[in-house]
Amino acid sequence: MTPRKITINPISRLEGHGKVTIHLDEEGRVEDARFHILQFRGFEVFTQGRPYEEMPIITQRICGICPVSHQLASAKACDAILGLAIPPAARMLRELIHMGQYIQSHALHFFYLASPDLLLGWDADPAVRNVVGVIAEFPEAAVKGVRLRKFGQEIIKALGGKKVHPAFSVPGGVTDSLSENDRDRLAEGLPEAYETCQLALDLLKGWVGKNLEEVGRFANFDSAYTGLVDAKGRVNLYDGRIRIVDAGRNRLAEFDPADYLDHIGEHVEPWSYMKFPFYKPLGYPEGIYRVGPLGRLNAADGLSTPKASAELAHFRALAENGLTGGSLLYHYARLIELLYALERAEQLFNDPGICDTDIKITARPKNREGVGVIEAPRGTLIHHYWVNTAGAIEKANLIVATGHNNAAMNRAVTEVARTYIQNGEVREGILNRVEGAIRCYDPCLSCATHALGQMPLRVEVFDARGGLVHERHRDPTA
Ligand code: MG
Ligand code: NI
Repeated sequence: MTPRKITINPISRLEGHGKVTIHLDEEGRVEDARFHILQFRGFEVFTQGRPYEEMPIITQRICGICPVSHQLASAKACDAILGLAIPPAARMLRELIHMGQYIQSHALHFFYLASPDLLLGWDADPAVRNVVGVIAEFPEAAVKGVRLRKFGQEIIKALGGKKVHPAFSVPGGVTDSLSENDRDRLAEGLPEAYETCQLALDLLKGWVGKNLEEVGRFANFDSAYTGLVDAKGRVNLYDGRIRIVDAGRNRLAEFDPADYLDHIGEHVEPWSYMKFPFYKPLGYPEGIYRVGPLGRLNAADGLSTPKASAELAHFRALAENGLTGGSLLYHYARLIELLYALERAEQLFNDPGICDTDIKITARPKNREGVGVIEAPRGTLIHHYWVNTAGAIEKANLIVATGHNNAAMNRAVTEVARTYIQNGEVREGILNRVEGAIRCYDPCLSCATHALGQMPLRVEVFDARGGLVHERHRDPTA
């Protein structure tokens, strides 16, 4: 038997494009599988020399999907350079636009990207296994999903003025206050949003209940987990301390985000431009950890809102049955976070200070260095800037969610490939599963490469001599 390498291209229903190669040994067993990100990382280089206060505007251009997240992390890094705490209303408004981003991003992921696999089945014809197929089979859920996403976008629009690249979070605060009219109008959307979120949770929980064996088997592996937590150890999406726990959810470390370099290293592989972050004391690859919905829920002790906490209790009871590391649980965790984001938005609407007009502090830079960290929908997002005495960027370091999950995604793809390729035989359904494994992590490839635009994603199988023996191309459907 000749060793082989398998490649899948393009993987559909991901945010952007990428490539997977599967390498077989002489016996036709999976030796290794790699998720490739091929594009040049530009932003850390070409922001050098720019005034620090331009960074929230420049870095939001890294990605058309995550501009709100980059702008928030960037503005927080700038606050650290200014050495100040922003006004309470500005902090609340930043968290509110952040919740708008969570609502639109998580709703998009479930209804457009994940639900075709879950509701129509892994092995459904690719011609119908997409959002159009979901609309045909589940018209009510699909329409509600579109409206839920729009609710999140409306929050972003009300604050940032534009849906895609809002200039809202700036050094020292935010650019605009929230009018009472807008607050009341937005709050009116909450009852329907809760209803749709519950519908999604019921669909997902029903699916998990019927597919427990698959959830336990599919890319279920041990790793550490990471997320921001508040002083009580609960998930905090906007601020807090970075906590890292082991595969059994025991705490390994908890630290101020500004100290991340003491705890997080970045491994480099010659075949990928994307680095592989890891928890330093454990080394690489033992120290790989996962971020994003499953990373956050596994790292934290709980959630601060009542409805999401009740859902988390169900989730824990299920996960603790040997499923803690199941990649498919990302979908479940994501919907619990969607519910949490709705509850946080409601709490913020109800805060008497939310319409306050004291929203920005003007100051001169005090520090030569600043770190800004938030939990973006896909996971922990780090912006770190060093400036000269004139406030120009000397160096920037960005670590994005998809980077933190890089090693875990490779592991997930390898696990799935090993299940579906034996004795050199590629089983039917492998390509859908490889796509599905990556989709659990909701990678944002434009963010991962710190570059604009899309790239091709393909899955190819190669033998030990480098001969291409299997290849998959499919046009992205979303
Ligand atoms: Mg970087
Ligand atoms: Ni992105």
